[in-house]
Amino acid sequence: MTASHAADLVAALLFILSLAGLSQHRTSRAGVVYGIAGMALALVATVVVAAQSITAGAVALILLAMALGAMTGLWRARRVEMTQMPELIAVLHSFVGLAAVLVGWNSYLEVESHGTAQTRIGADLLGIHHAEVFIGIFIGAVTFTGSIVAFLKLSARIKSRPLMLPGKNALNIGALAAFVVLTVWFTISPNLPLTIAVTVLALALGWHLVASIGGGDMPVVVSMLNSYSGWAAAAAGFLLDNNLLIVTGALVGSSGAYLSYIMCKAMNRSFLSVIMGGFGIAAPSGHEEDHGEHREVRAAQAAEMLAQARSVIITPGYGMAVAQAQQPVAELTRQLRERGVAVRFGVHPVAGRLPGHMNVLLAEAKVSYDIVLEMDEINDDFADTSVVLVIGANDTVNPAATEDPGSPIAGMPVLRVWEAEQVIVFKRSMASGYAGVQNPLFFRENSSMLFGDAKQSVEEILHELSANNRRDAVPAARQATVVSH
Ligand code: TAP
Repeated sequence: MTASHAADLVAALLFILSLAGLSQHRTSRAGVVYGIAGMALALVATVVVAAQSITAGAVALILLAMALGAMTGLWRARRVEMTQMPELIAVLHSFVGLAAVLVGWNSYLEVESHGTAQTRIGADLLGIHHAEVFIGIFIGAVTFTGSIVAFLKLSARIKSRPLMLPGKNALNIGALAAFVVLTVWFTISPNLPLTIAVTVLALALGWHLVASIGGGDMPVVVSMLNSYSGWAAAAAGFLLDNNLLIVTGALVGSSGAYLSYIMCKAMNRSFLSVIMGGFGIAAPSGHEEDHGEHREVRAAQAAEMLAQARSVIITPGYGMAVAQAQQPVAELTRQLRERGVAVRFGVHPVAGRLPGHMNVLLAEAKVSYDIVLEMDEINDDFADTSVVLVIGANDTVNPAATEDPGSPIAGMPVLRVWEAEQVIVFKRSMASGYAGVQNPLFFRENSSMLFGDAKQSVEEILHELSANNRRDAVPAARQATVVSH
C-alpha cells in the first residue's frame, strides 16, 4: 500500500467518524473536527499525488484555485445567517453537480474525442467508461439545476408553490426513459451530439423535478439533493480514478438518501413521489377559503393570560429564528417556571429551515434539554394545556394538514396546538407560511394573534410581567411597613 492509499483510507475513516459524530448533539462538535481533518488530509494527498505527474505551473494553478475557494468559503461562512444555511447548502450542492458535469465533459473530450480511448482505458473497460461519462454528466446536471431551483425557492427569490406543467409526470418519466435509451446508444457509439443531448435533458429534468415540489416538501428535497450531490461526486471519482472521491460520494449519497427516507416517514410523504417531482400529488386548487374573523391581543393581555396559566407549551418556528427571539423566550420560560407555571417546548421535525434548527436556537439560549420535546412526545398533551405560545411557527401548526384532504400539506403530521384552552400566535401579519397555505388556526375561537416582531413581543410580555410583579409587591411592602410599625 502506498502513502497515498494510506492517506485515502485514513481520510475515509475520518469521514465515517464525522457522520457518526454529527448524529448526536453531544458529539457534533467532534464530528465537525473529524470532517475538517479528513478533508484537509484528502486535499493534501490529492495535490501531492497530482504534483508527481503534472507541471509546476499546473500545481501552482491548483494551489491558487484552492486558496481562492478557501477564501470564498471562509467569507461566506462568516457572513451567513443561521436562517440562510439551507440556501447556502443548496448552492454548495449545485457546485458539486457542476463539478461532476465538467469532469464528465473533460473525460469525454480528453479520451473519447481524441481516439486514444482504446489505448488509455483498455478495450475491455471502454464500454464501462462511456457509461460512467454519461451517467456522471446526467446526475451532475440534475443536481446542478435542481439545487439552483432549491436555492431560489429557499431564499424566496421565486415562489415556493409547486410548478404544475400539464402532463408533468409523463414529462419526468419520458425524460428518464430517454436517458436510458441515450445511455445505451452512447455506450455503443459515443459522440458529441449525444453528450450535448444528455446535458440539456438532465439540466431541464433537474429544474422541473424540484420546481414541481411544493414548499412543505422542500426539507426532503434539500436532503435528496444532498444525496444526489454525493452520487455525482462518486461518479466523478470513477472518472478521475480517485478511490477516496468514490467512497466519500457514496457516504454522502447513501446517508442523504437515508435522511430523505426518514424525513419522508416523519412527514408522512411518499419517498417515491418526492423523488419523482411530486408524482401523484394533485395541483393546489388556488381557492382561498374564507375562514372569518381573527382576534388580536396585546402584550399586556398575553402577560395576563400567562400569569393565570397552569401549563404552557411553546411551539417555535422559523419566525423565532428570523426575529432571533430565543433569548427572551428562554427568559420568559425561566420567569414563568419561577411562578410555578409548567412550561415545555414542542418542536416539529421540520420547524425552521434545517433539521434541528429550533433545538440549536434553544440550546444556544440555554433552555434545558429535558423541557424540549419532540412533536410525537408532546402532541397528546396540548388538550390539557392552558396556553400555547406559537412563536413564529405556521405550517407546522396548521390544522389544514389533518382536516383538509385537498390541502397541499394534507397528511403532514403537525403540532395539534388548537386543542389547548388558549393559543397565542406571534407573527407580524396574516401572511401564510413557507408552504404558501392559509392557516385556519388563526381564525379559531380559542386563538389570538399577537402581531409584531416575535422578539419585541416577548420582551414586551416580560416587561408587563415584571410590572405586574411590582404592582403585586407594593401592597405586600405596604403591609410589611404597617406590621413593623
Ligand atoms: P413557516 O411556515 O415558515 O412560517 C414562519 C412564520 O414566521 C411566517 O408565517 C411569518 O409570518 C413568521 N415570521 C417571520 N418573521 C417573523 C418575525 N420577525 N417575528 C414574528 N414572526 C415572524 O414556519 P414553520 O412552522 O417553522 O415551518 C417550516 C416550514 O419550512 C415548513 O413548511 C417546512 O416544510 C419548510 N422547510 C423546512 C426545512 C427544515 S429541514 N426545517 C427546510 C426547508 C423548508 P409573518 O410574515 O406574518 O411574520
